[in-house]
Formats: sequence, structure tokens, C-alpha cells
Amino acid sequence: MPRIIKFDVYLEEYDNISLLPPDSQALIERARAACNHAYAPYSGFLVGAAVLLETGEIVTGSNQENASYPCGLCAERVALFSAASRYPSVALTKLAVTAMKKGQNTYQPVAPCGACRQVISEYQANQDPPLELIMEGTNGSLMVAASIDMLLPMTFSAKHMDRTNDEI
Ligand code: THU
Repeated sequence: MPRIIKFDVYLEEYDNISLLPPDSQALIERARAACNHAYAPYSGFLVGAAVLLETGEIVTGSNQENASYPCGLCAERVALFSAASRYPSVALTKLAVTAMKKGQNTYQPVAPCGACRQVISEYQANQDPPLELIMEGTNGSLMVAASIDMLLPMTFSAKHMDRTNDEI
């Protein structure tokens, strides 16, 4: 019989933004505002992301699409790459993500795609405290993951290449 490996993953769900701490509320507002800067003429799905840095700085991003579809980039990675390139080695505390459909003001639930989860995981591995993820849910509800480990439990990382102690 094989041994069964289980992962203990869970999310917190909140009915209302007012139940979250003030810094999370402010971050979600910034993610919502970032939706308005999305370039999404092909999907019409406007995504906004906002990263809170340990310094208190907030960096936002929105999805950027392209006529050559695979060239586009998700809002989360736009925000994360922007934050990491502008503030290298500064720990990332929280990432909020939300979306709206073209012409509609209702916020949609967004769970980061697999590629974004991998990118989040890379940055989290480089810092001590985990990066909290806040996802806007339906009807004003919100989901919070304490760490990317809740969304990507068996992540691929530098340690799989045994590169952690290498000089690159
Ligand atoms: N998208 C994001 O920006 N983030 C996600 O977490 C899911 C998907 C974007 C990519 C594309 O521009 C559009 O949403 C439809 O997939």
C-alpha cells in the first residue's frame, strides 16, 4: 500500500470587506482601482492586483493583453514584477486581487492562475514571513490565504534543483 501524503490547506472567508484589517481594506481598494487600468480588449475581464510591501508601500498592476494572446500578462505578475524590480529585496506582505467584467461593476472572484502561483511562491521563498493573499469573492465576500502554500502546496523551487547553496 502506498503512503498517503496529505496537505493541510484552508482559506478564510469573510462576508464583508469591513471585517478585514484596515491595511487589507486599503489594499483591496487599490486593487479595485487598478482594474480601471487593465488592457483587456480580448477577454473584457479587467483584473487588478495590489501588493503591500513591508515598508508600507503599495504597488499595483492590471492585466495586459496582446493580439498575440500568449504575450499578455496577468495582473498579479504585473504587480509582483513591478514591485520586485522597483524595490528589490523588500519583503512582500500582502497581495490583493480582484476583477470586473467590461461594463459591469460587480467584482468577480479571482483565484490566481497556476503561473502566478508559481511566481508568488518564488518571492515568498526568498523572504521570512509568508505573503498573504486576499481574493475578492462574490457578493462582496472575500477569501484570504495565509500563504501561497494554501494554493500551491507542492511547489517547485530552487531546492529541487539543489541550487540553494550554489554560487550562480
Ligand atoms: N487574469 C489575470 O490577470 N489574473 C488572474 O488571476 C486570472 C486571469 C487575466 C488574464 C487575461 O488577461 C484575462 O484575465 C482572462 O483570462
